[in-house]
Amino acid sequence: MGSGISLVAAQSGIDCWQIDISAEQLERAKAYHAKTVARAVSKQRMTEEEGTAALARIRYTQSMADGRNAEWAVEAASENVDVKKKIFVAMQSTFSASTVLATNTSSISITDLASAVGADAHRVIGMHFFNPVPVMKLVEVIKGLATSAETTARTMELSKAMGKTPVPANDRAGFVSNRVLMPMINEAFYAWMEGVAEPSDIDEIMKLGCNFPMGPLRLADFIGLDVCHDIMMVLYRELGHPKFFPCPRLRQLVQAGRLGDKSGCGVFEYPVS
Ligand code: 3HC
Repeated sequence: MGSGISLVAAQSGIDCWQIDISAEQLERAKAYHAKTVARAVSKQRMTEEEGTAALARIRYTQSMADGRNAEWAVEAASENVDVKKKIFVAMQSTFSASTVLATNTSSISITDLASAVGADAHRVIGMHFFNPVPVMKLVEVIKGLATSAETTARTMELSKAMGKTPVPANDRAGFVSNRVLMPMINEAFYAWMEGVAEPSDIDEIMKLGCNFPMGPLRLADFIGLDVCHDIMMVLYRELGHPKFFPCPRLRQLVQAGRLGDKSGCGVFEYPVS
C-alpha cells in the first residue's frame, strides 16, 4: 500500500520518499509506479509530461534519514504492533518535531502505537487508505487519545489535497471499515467450509446480489489472506468476540502459504507475473 500512497501523493504534486528496508520492495514499488503512470498516460488521464513529473517526485531509499525534512510520514509496514512501534520510535528520532507521524494501520489502536513515542503522541494519527490506493477514494482518519486538533486538521487537508475523501472514525480495533468488512469475509470462508456453495458461487451471489465489485473471497485474496488473518486476530484480541476469530479454512490456507494474489494462489489461482 505504501507504493500506492506515494504514487497518489506524487500525482498530486507532493515530493516524497519511498522508504523500505528491502531493496527488492523498492524495485517493485518503482516498477508499479512506472506501470501505473504509463497506463494513466495511455488512457489520456494525464499527459506524458505530467507522468514524467509525477515519477520524478518520488525518490527511493533504504535509509529513513534521507527523508528527514519531510512534513509528513506515513508508516505502512505489516500489521504487527511491535514492528510498527519500532518504526514509530525511528520516525520520532529521524523527522523534525513538527512532522505528522501517520500510520496506515488497518486495525491496530492508534493510542497504543502512539504510546511508543511518549510526549510526541499528539503528532500520531491513523490515515487508513484502501486498496488499490490510486482508485479508492476513502481515507479513514483515526485520532488517538492524545492526537491534537492541529494534527487532525492537517491530515484532513492532506487527504483532500491527495484527491481523497477523509472520513473520521474513533479509535476502536478495526475502526469502521475492517470491523464491518472482516466478519463478512470470515463468514464467506465459513460458508465455503460448510459447503453452502462453491467459492466462485459465493462470490457471484455477493457480487450480483449486493452489487459488490468483487466477491468477499476474491477480495480476501486481493487484500492478502495473511493480512485478513492478522486483522481478524487484532479484532478478536481487542474486541473479545469469537465472531472475529479467523475461520479454520482461512487459517489453513495461510499456513499453506496460499496468501492470495501476491503468492499466485489463495482461494483462487492467479498467474504470477
Ligand atoms: N493500481 C492502480 N490502478 C489500478 C489498480 C492498482 N493496483 N488496480 C486497478 N486499477 C485501475 C485500473 O487501471 C483501471 O483503470 P482504468 O479504468 O483507467 O483502466 C481501474 O482501476 C479498473 O480496473 P480493472 O478494469 O482492471 O478491473 P475492475 O474494473 O475489476 O476494478 C478494482 C478493479 C478497482 C480493484 C475493483 O474490482 C474494486 O473496486 N474492487 C474492490 C476493492 C476494495 O474493496 N478495496 C478495499 C479493500 S479493503 C482495504 O484496502 C483495507 C485494508 O485495511 C484491508
